[in-house]
Amino acid sequence: MKDNKRIRIALTKGRLEKDTVALFEKAGYDVDQLRNKGRRLILEIPDSGIDVVLAKAADVITYVEHGVCDMGVVGKDTIDEHSGSFFEVCDLGFGRCKFALAVKKGDDFYAGFGVKTIATKYPNVTRRFFEAKGMDVDIVKIEGSVELAPLLGLSHGIVDIVETGTTLKENGLEVYEDVSAISARVIVNPVSMKLKKAAIEELVAKMEQYKGQ
Ligand code: PRP
Repeated sequence: MKDNKRIRIALTKGRLEKDTVALFEKAGYDVDQLRNKGRRLILEIPDSGIDVVLAKAADVITYVEHGVCDMGVVGKDTIDEHSGSFFEVCDLGFGRCKFALAVKKGDDFYAGFGVKTIATKYPNVTRRFFEAKGMDVDIVKIEGSVELAPLLGLSHGIVDIVETGTTLKENGLEVYEDVSAISARVIVNPVSMKLKKAAIEELVAKMEQYKGQ
């Protein structure tokens, strides 16, 4: 059985993890273990009642949904693609980027009448985007470097994450239309929210207070 007094929060390994650790530090938590973690995946914030789990983005959602982690920090991109039953309680403001429809520079995506093909790592986000327009598209799932698909002639466009725009630019592509904004979010398991309400609300309040500082 989990110790009911403790909260377990899953962080998305990598940049969101680093930004969250920096936020914890600003909020006054001892983050030494988190900074010097080696290959450890479960760490303790001393004298806080908080345990930190490091996981891949989609797994953060899985652990929070199953209630083995009470909370998580994950990108809106992963939330939008995977959905699930949890509360999204806070926008941390970092990890900002966007989903965009991109095409080869100068291409008019909506020209012509044929069904368009879109390559993406995010088929659910893509499907919803075009469904909202009432537009029928063929979606091809790609695992990475999606920019290749239009260059190789596999697709008319891509729906992908754009941060600086450098990857698109260096590969002769450009944003055709924005799809949605992305940033890091705090998610909470609904049962944990009931059973550990005070502790969770205290941590979320601290994160809200120190974000953007
Ligand atoms: C992401 C995304 C773009 C790139 C956008 O890829 O899929 O390729 O970052 O960033 P930019 O606008 O700053 O150039 P990621 O690095 O996650 O690798 P991947 O292509 O293997 O998914």
